[in-house]
Amino acid sequence: MSLVVVGAQWGDEGKGKLIDILSEEVDITVRYQGGNNAGHTVIVGDKEYIFHLIPSAILRPKKICVIANGVVIDPQALLEEIDGLKKRGLPMSGTQLRISANAHVVMPYHRVMDQLREGKRANKIGTTGRGIGPCYSDKVGRMGIRIIDLLNPKVLKAKLEDNLNEKNDIFVKVYGYKNYDFSEIYKEYIKFGQRLKPYICDTAIFLNQAIKAKKKILFEGAQGTFLDIDFGTYPYVTSSNATTGGVCSGTGVPPTKIKEVVAAFKAYSTRVGEGPFPTEYGKEMNECIRSKGHEFGSTTGRPRRCGWFDAVLGRYSVAINGATKLAIMKLDVLDELEEIEIATSYKYKGKVYKDYSHDLDVLAHAKPVYEKWPGWKTSTREIRQYKKLPLAARRYIERLEELLEVPIKYISVGSKRDEIIIR
Ligand code: GDP
Ligand code: IMO
Ligand code: MG
Repeated sequence: MSLVVVGAQWGDEGKGKLIDILSEEVDITVRYQGGNNAGHTVIVGDKEYIFHLIPSAILRPKKICVIANGVVIDPQALLEEIDGLKKRGLPMSGTQLRISANAHVVMPYHRVMDQLREGKRANKIGTTGRGIGPCYSDKVGRMGIRIIDLLNPKVLKAKLEDNLNEKNDIFVKVYGYKNYDFSEIYKEYIKFGQRLKPYICDTAIFLNQAIKAKKKILFEGAQGTFLDIDFGTYPYVTSSNATTGGVCSGTGVPPTKIKEVVAAFKAYSTRVGEGPFPTEYGKEMNECIRSKGHEFGSTTGRPRRCGWFDAVLGRYSVAINGATKLAIMKLDVLDELEEIEIATSYKYKGKVYKDYSHDLDVLAHAKPVYEKWPGWKTSTREIRQYKKLPLAARRYIERLEELLEVPIKYISVGSKRDEIIIR
């Protein structure tokens, strides 16, 4: 049996918390796309962990974690994450963590290119500056360097020389930046390869063998549906397929082996970085929810933009991810509100939009049509049974379920592991 946890909005839905809970029931947890642009928070007892590349299940010592081929790996960031977790007492052995040989590598020039490109753009994306876009561009442009290449000095040398040949021209002539020195990068990345060697394998073979042996697998999505390169609010997106489609190409596990898809939503919406956000609050409400929900980026610390739940986007997300169950996270953040709104359609230039539109003008200027629901004005954080939730909270949840047409199985009412209602 395998299941996917996918972000149904713009990321930061609380996937890390949900995966930490669900990973108890599985044998292997797999990241399938994205890179260290992700920040997944898990709180256990009084300890907080923020994972960027390593699957959120690593805290469970008997579970295996895989970083699959669809992920782009910054070796320096990964080694820092491994070392940080070792310092916190985790074994981080080569049997517990597996890294795909054919995942692509984030190089120093990717990080810099990300920042230089952002600097030149009139319409900024607000990237995390981690080199994600340039690394995926090189992958698709067939000039990328893969993890396995770090183990073969001859291959790495040839690829890096070729890359720098072109890139140094671009850096110097287009951006007025410096030339990269071949030998410095070469030596550093050979060292990274040697340090990562115990973890490297063909993760597609590993996962398919595990499936044959009836192991349970959980696929951990990073980012969210509207940051997906194909289905998101392009170009204000990340450079990978964050949606469930990304699981197959990102891991080598075929669609016939995936059974459940849990789409994770926040009880409201947030987005970090630039781009359209139809239900975004005005200044005051934005500040109110940001402070109640501690809505600051786990990777960059930037304040997250906040807004009402958007069922127009929600329905699209459920459809393209093939959600079989939903999780509504951070319900407690709405605990004190008088009234809660849900967008059910948009209006733009006299036309009603019931469905998501890829037209940036519609997304940027449409006026959402809202339903208003009464708030419950009481704390839900101690509640563990659905029927004990205040009536108004149940009405809100059931209305979301009706609009999205998929059962809501998980309701999260706090950041800690046990603060969850399972229906
Ligand atoms: P992810 O990227 O989807 O894993 O989400 P992040 O970890 O970036 O952001 C979610 C934030 O909300 C983290 O700080 C979590 O600790 C926190 N969180 C998760 N679930 C809940 C919840 O139900 N209630 C509250 N108040 N916080 C939560
Ligand atoms: P998790 O996995 C929220 C956003 C960035 C920017 C856009 C492109 O924690 O949900 P990139 O660096 O990927 O080229 O930036 O995507 N972004 C995220 N927003 N959560 C994330 O990950 C994100 N990863 C990237 O803010 O708007
Ligand atoms: Mg996050």
